[in-house]
Amino acid sequence: MIEAKNINFAYRRGIPVLTDINCAIGDGEFVALLGHNGSGKTTLTRLMMALDHPRSGQILVDGDDIAHYEPADLADKIGYVFQNPDLQILADTVYEEVAYGPRVKKLPEANIRANVDEALRVMGLTDLKDYYPRLLSFGQKRRLGVAAALALNPRTLILDEITNGQDAAEQGAMMEYLKALNEKKGTTILLITHDMDIVRRYAKRTLVLCDGRVVFTGTPAELFATGEALKAWGLRRPVVSTLSLEFGLTGVTGCEAFCDALAGALPDGAALDGTGFPASKGGAAQ
Ligand SMILES: Nc1ncnc2c1ncn2[C@@H]1O[C@H](COP(=O)(O)OP(=O)(O)OP(=O)(O)O)[C@@H](O)[C@H]1O
Ligand SMILES: [Mg+2]
Repeated sequence: MIEAKNINFAYRRGIPVLTDINCAIGDGEFVALLGHNGSGKTTLTRLMMALDHPRSGQILVDGDDIAHYEPADLADKIGYVFQNPDLQILADTVYEEVAYGPRVKKLPEANIRANVDEALRVMGLTDLKDYYPRLLSFGQKRRLGVAAALALNPRTLILDEITNGQDAAEQGAMMEYLKALNEKKGTTILLITHDMDIVRRYAKRTLVLCDGRVVFTGTPAELFATGEALKAWGLRRPVVSTLSLEFGLTGVTGCEAFCDALAGALPDGAALDGTGFPASKGGAAQ
């Protein structure tokens, strides 16, 4: 469990970046951290990882105040993937990069090999294991960061815009893997993203920052049902959510759920004609 209590933070004196932040990420949650560029998402997660410390307030991890922690003190509990993958690269090969954390933790060599092989496999990097990490594409570096975090089997993952630079298949595979980790192993996931389709598909709860303040928390369906505020927060409603609201269907975020709800909302005897519209009573439409 990660809790932020009355957090205030500024990089430079006089320019507040986070103001009066109160929030908690419970064990086993899948939370999307959202907000416009510069709203403070990365900064908040840096405080949760003890990369920086608040000017006032407390960050508690499993009940412990981390005011005097170094990031390494949290490495066992939280896997953190940086927004900028270049900041995270330490080793000379992809394999050694992923093995770095387990080696620091002094895991037995056989466990290291098993963890690294598995992490490389699930991130589609096995064939690149001898490559020099800095020469990878941006998307590959992102997956390398995720693999390095996975190799330590943390109970919590904080992932900062990891789907950037991935094609649709890579993005889908990555998100499905995280979903399975969350649902089957109970891994807590805090995902920063600007992709609202990912939010509606995968997040169980959203937390929205605007100008360094928490302005909303609730399910994706609740978020996308909010009106004008969404625009002010710099967020875009997914198309299926807009359609659902137009049809008066509340709480619907998925395409299949939308079709089911729409079919259920049709008058008795009406049927969809295959175009997605109710079949007309007066014969085929012209
Ligand atoms: N190292 C830094 N030194 C000074 N100011 C910073 C630093 N990092 C971020 N900022 C400022 O802090 C504010 C919050 O930045 P942050 O990176 O946390 O936002 P973000 O929500 O992650 O944005 P994005 O969606 O663009 O990644 C911004 O005004 C940014 O310019
Ligand atoms: Mg950021």
